[in-house]
Amino acid sequence: MSVNAQVTYSNRHLAPGNSDLIVLQGICHDYRMAGASHRVLHNVSLAIVRGRSYALTGASGSGKSTLLNILGLLDCPSAGRFQLDGLDVQAFTPAQRADLRNRCIGFVFQSFNLLPQLNALDNVALPLLYRGISRTQARLSAGRQLQRVGLGERMLNRPADLSGGQRQRVAIARALVGEPALILADEPTGNLDSGTAADIMDLLLTLNRDDGVTLVMVTHDTCLARRLDHCLHVQDGHILLRDARHA
Ligand SMILES: Nc1ncnc2c1ncn2[C@@H]1O[C@H](COP(=O)(O)OP(=O)(O)OP(=O)(O)O)[C@@H](O)[C@H]1O
Ligand SMILES: [Mg+2]
Repeated sequence: MSVNAQVTYSNRHLAPGNSDLIVLQGICHDYRMAGASHRVLHNVSLAIVRGRSYALTGASGSGKSTLLNILGLLDCPSAGRFQLDGLDVQAFTPAQRADLRNRCIGFVFQSFNLLPQLNALDNVALPLLYRGISRTQARLSAGRQLQRVGLGERMLNRPADLSGGQRQRVAIARALVGEPALILADEPTGNLDSGTAADIMDLLLTLNRDDGVTLVMVTHDTCLARRLDHCLHVQDGHILLRDARHA
């Protein structure tokens, strides 16, 4: 993938003096349905501090995934200002956004989103191939990440041969392989039993603490939410910032 010379942000270690990784100011988002525009996010302003962990909670349909997709540069807000590490993202071209996303953000989804035809190693290596890194080098890095999430013995298994918890570990390794500044997780434990969910939560919090990677996680589980530093509660597209441990 081509790297635009204007995009200098490359990994979590840049700009250590700036504690705000993300600043949103007056973000609104509208969807068009049946020819009419519906506002889903209303004037959202917040800061995500580097190295902290955030639970994103709220009722179904309140706008959590919409906000997560905007934070992850998967969707453009209809209005407002979005700064990532001081960069004005709304001024970026689609190619610049894709490059920034690939370099700075790792995603973990409820349904794992692994490619069924690839084994664990090649699933994890994929983001590095998109960056133009050689297959050999990408597989080496992928292998290290799989070891780290406890799947050193299962690297050559395809997703169908892994349990739900193991698939989510592969997805977490894939999110981490590019050394992102930010991990965005949309209900990562939603398809797992409570014991496996707690293990995945332990893993995400260990990575947050040990690597300093910022974590934003959508969850409906208040017990899991309380384990994160902060809680952003979404209510009908408005944000309430709470301390998760007192939610
Ligand atoms: N692509 C879309 N087109 C039109 N409306 C959408 C689209 N995506 C989401 N919406 C609407 O926006 C609102 C917020 O949806 P969103 O998916 O962000 O909710 P959520 O809080 O993640 O819900 P859940 O907990 O069920 O995942 C909902 O009313 C939804 O129907
Ligand atoms: Mg959702």
